Amino acid sequence: MPQAKQIVVITGAGISAESGLSTFRDSGGLWEGYDINEVASIDGWRKDPEKVLDFYNLRRKQALEAEPNNAHKALADLQNDFDVQIITQNVDDLHEKAGSKNVLHLHGELNKAKSSEVDDHIVDIGNQPIKLGDKAADGSQLRPHVVWFGELVPNLEEAAHITSKADILIVIGTSLVVYPAAGLIDYVKQNIPKYIIDPSEPEFRNLSEWNHIKEKAASGTPKLVKKIKRQEIE
Ligand code: OAD
Repeated sequence: MPQAKQIVVITGAGISAESGLSTFRDSGGLWEGYDINEVASIDGWRKDPEKVLDFYNLRRKQALEAEPNNAHKALADLQNDFDVQIITQNVDDLHEKAGSKNVLHLHGELNKAKSSEVDDHIVDIGNQPIKLGDKAADGSQLRPHVVWFGELVPNLEEAAHITSKADILIVIGTSLVVYPAAGLIDYVKQNIPKYIIDPSEPEFRNLSEWNHIKEKAASGTPKLVKKIKRQEIE
């Protein structure tokens, strides 16, 4: 079989679970006691910006302390042999910490902040918290560089383009219920190998077209990577 040119990996919160970062929906819609709708929506920001800042400050701190697990590391290793593009819904930087070079963040990044008025005024903040009263260059309140419910996903078009080029598609640790990210899998070419690594039963459409590795990411991903490297993929 010819060597695959482009491997596209779509990841979600599940890939970082074994690094100690909570997923969203496994905990019944609550994230450490916060209601997702209140802290991850533009309406929530308008209603209570301090609560939203607290939520992301906590997540930033936890992400900083977290280490990439064997799933992140295996994907970084895969790029030694293949052209690997990661599209992540995660706002942590564990793919980068593991050494992956091509990482497109669909929902933003915790270590960046932006103006709450001008969308492209983005600054690196590293592990610093954002406080009420911290100002962006345009004088508006600084906010996390994350995409909230009710907002557009600026990297969507690029993600769809990348997905359409995939020769192998791997989906890891995402319930794929949040649109428009969930719609990405509709852009893949027909008849390419498609894998899902998730310990739960995914609710994808056309599930029969997918190979489901019913394992946690940190064990399932290295196994699949090994298979791909040995060119044992179907
Ligand atoms: P979810 O919490 O919706 O889904 C996590 C998925 O990971 C589920 O399918 C779990 O079964 C699976 N999972 C749990 N532990 C796992 C493990 N150890 N290994 C592999 N899989 C595991 O998280 P996302 O799909 O990432 O958006 O959520 C999508 C978006 O919803 C997030 O980016 C966020 C949230 O609202 C915004 O904040 C805009």
